[in-house]
Amino acid sequence: MKITISTLQKQVHEGHKITMLTCYDASFAAMLDAAGVEILLVGDSLGMVIQGHNSTLPVSLDDLVYHTACVCRGTKQALVLADMPFGSYQQSKEQAFANAAKLMAAGAEMVKIEGGAIMAETTEFLTQRGIPVCAHIGLLPQSVHSYGGYKVQGKTEEQAAQLKQDAKVLEAAGAAMVLMEMVPAQLAKEITESLTVPTIGIGAGADVDGQVLVLHDMLGVYPGKKARFVKNFMQGTTSIQGAIEAYVQAVKAKTFPAAEHSF
Ligand code: KIV
Ligand code: NA
Repeated sequence: MKITISTLQKQVHEGHKITMLTCYDASFAAMLDAAGVEILLVGDSLGMVIQGHNSTLPVSLDDLVYHTACVCRGTKQALVLADMPFGSYQQSKEQAFANAAKLMAAGAEMVKIEGGAIMAETTEFLTQRGIPVCAHIGLLPQSVHSYGGYKVQGKTEEQAAQLKQDAKVLEAAGAAMVLMEMVPAQLAKEITESLTVPTIGIGAGADVDGQVLVLHDMLGVYPGKKARFVKNFMQGTTSIQGAIEAYVQAVKAKTFPAAEHSF
C-alpha cells in the first residue's frame, strides 16, 4: 500500500513509529522500500556522502532533481521526500515554489525546508499551492558556517522556547511534518507533545514520532566523523538488507535511539 501523509498520521495515532532513511539511488530505494521504510529522504547530505564535499552547501537543485528521479524509479510504497538545497528557497516564497515544483515534477511527494518561524510564510505559500512541506528545525546543516560547527541546538532556556515556538508556527503555517535535528531529547519530546503533525528526529531522542539516519552513516560506509546519534546497523548482521531490517525493527521496537545516541 502506498504510504501517504494520511497513512503516516494514522500510524502515529495508533502508536507506531515512523522509519525514514536517506536514499539517493534506485537500487537502495528498492531495498529500503521492501524493508518497509516509510519515508525515503533524498537529502542534501548527498553533498557529503555521494559527492565528497565537507558540507551540504555546494549541492544544486539539479543534483536533487536527478537523485529524486533515481529514487522514485526504485520506489513502490515509500513516500519520497526531497530536500530543498541551499540557495533554492531562502530568497523568496516565489523562488521556493518554482524550485519545489521541479522536485515535485521529478517525483517527490513532499519537500523539506530548513529553518524556523522565518520559513513560515514560505511553508504556507507552498502548502496552499499543493506542495506538502516538512519543516526542518534545530540544527540546520545549511547554516553550519553561522554556527561554526555542528552543535546541539536548544540547550539554553531561551533557545528551547524559540524552538518550541518555531514548531508551533510552522505547524500553523501548514507544515505536514516537523523534523528536529540535534536537540535535547526532553525538548524534542515536549515539542512532539505540543504538535498534531508527526515529528521525526535525528539526534533528538526516542520520544518523537519517527527516526531518520543518513544511509551511509548507518551502514558504516561514510569515512567522515561519526556523530553521537549514529548507530552502525551493519554490526550484528552480514548483509545490507539485514542492517536495514534491523534499523526498521529497532525504531519500531523503540530500542533505537538509546540514551547513548541522545542529548
Ligand atoms: O540531508 C539529510 O540527510 C537530512 C537529514 C540529516 C535529516 O536532512
Ligand atoms: Na538535509
